Amino acid sequence: MITTPQITGYLSEHYAADANHTLAGYERAGGFKAVKKALKMKPADVADLVKESGLRGRGGAGFVAGLKWTFMPEKSDRMKVLVCNADESEPGSFKDRLIMERGPFAILEGILIAAWATGAEKTFIYVRGEYALPIERLRAAVDEMRAQGYLGTKLFGKKGFDHEIVVHSGAGAYICGEETGLLESLEGKKGQPRKKPPFPAQYGAFGLPTTVNNVETFAHVPYIVDRGVEWFRGFGTERSPGTTLFGVSGHVERPGLFELPLGTPLRELIEHAGGCRGGRAIKAVIPGGVSMPVLPPSDLDVGMADELLTERGTHLGTGGIMVMDETTCMVRAACVISYFFRDESCGQCTQCREGTGWINKICRRIEAGRGSDDDLALLDSVPAMMEGGTICAFADAAAWPIQGLMRHFRADFEAHVREQKCPFPESFEL
Ligand SMILES: Cc1cc2nc3c(=O)[nH]c(=O)nc-3n(C[C@H](O)[C@H](O)[C@H](O)COP(=O)(O)O)c2cc1C
Ligand code: SF4
Repeated sequence: MITTPQITGYLSEHYAADANHTLAGYERAGGFKAVKKALKMKPADVADLVKESGLRGRGGAGFVAGLKWTFMPEKSDRMKVLVCNADESEPGSFKDRLIMERGPFAILEGILIAAWATGAEKTFIYVRGEYALPIERLRAAVDEMRAQGYLGTKLFGKKGFDHEIVVHSGAGAYICGEETGLLESLEGKKGQPRKKPPFPAQYGAFGLPTTVNNVETFAHVPYIVDRGVEWFRGFGTERSPGTTLFGVSGHVERPGLFELPLGTPLRELIEHAGGCRGGRAIKAVIPGGVSMPVLPPSDLDVGMADELLTERGTHLGTGGIMVMDETTCMVRAACVISYFFRDESCGQCTQCREGTGWINKICRRIEAGRGSDDDLALLDSVPAMMEGGTICAFADAAAWPIQGLMRHFRADFEAHVREQKCPFPESFEL
């Protein structure tokens, strides 16, 4: 269950009020002030402001948003478009869902500001198909905006500023969160990532120049424009400014979302979630959604910013923190994770299609007490063979968690092989 963020920052400050998924509620809270301010600036200056703020994309890769906007061709005889990535399928990640349910207008205002900065005339919001309430809220919000004259032509009285927003429901595939898989799916094709180049800014949705940003990325934009770069940089680290909505799940007392500055120590976030369940010790923590390598308890003081996590061999990803207590069998964790990636590979690249299935088979064999030393050697070599050289980063995302588990919890795998059984009877069941 998703609750209102239990720590309130600027992003979530208005999510607590029930009416803020309505236009009237959003405007009462100061909504659409930022877009009016942006319209008094030159488009390039708006992009520069967002670039200077250092806002990094919140969809997982952490690319500087304002810089991405400048990749759009300044002049184009084809319509330019934006895509809001609301596919949110990364296990452990549930922040975009809350923003869409509680604060859809912050996303939509961020989109309008990005549209002004890039010259885009249309936005497609691609929402994960299972997200029924977010889709309903976004569609209602878009309808309200259109009725109010905030969509269509000559918006906010600005000649030449025309924009439309389409809310598109996906059909439930993890790979449709990868931006070019998303574009294919949006066009009604199989959600299989495209070879790059060309990148979306040159050839994106329906062949049009396109910028793709995550839901949360757009939601930060109105605050940056309204309150300024210095204010935004007052949160977080030098390289990763701002707050983010950290999701904390797994073996904690109070799972939920916590809006805190980037760089907040991992240990503090787990404490906000009530600590490890039943007073048990923590065995492992996935810091940023299931594709990010796991951390051992000795790393709990790391700051939750990508540049700090990179030093510990992992990444911030989507900020979805998953805590595992001392009873957890890491081979079972590997079985669950590899099963997910085996099922979700789109199958275009051999090393991804075959590697994900192979890893899952080996993990299940070890867990069943039939593993050998050769299997351990395969778990070292197969993920390494999958990394790099594929059409998209899914193969890396499938390889990294296994590499992390082997790096920090090899002893668990070795114990299974030695004892020819699972030595963790209290662990969750497969
Ligand atoms: C396998 C895979 C799945 C992804 N899933 C999502 C997703 O569900 N939501 C998202 O915003 N980005 C996802 N991404 C990242 C997108 O490709 C893209 O980088 C992002 O939407 C850009 O937005 P941002 O710059 O605002 O973060 C995924 C990437 C990969 C490789
Ligand atoms: S890496 Fe995997 S998911 Fe990505 S295109 Fe290749 S086969 Fe598909």
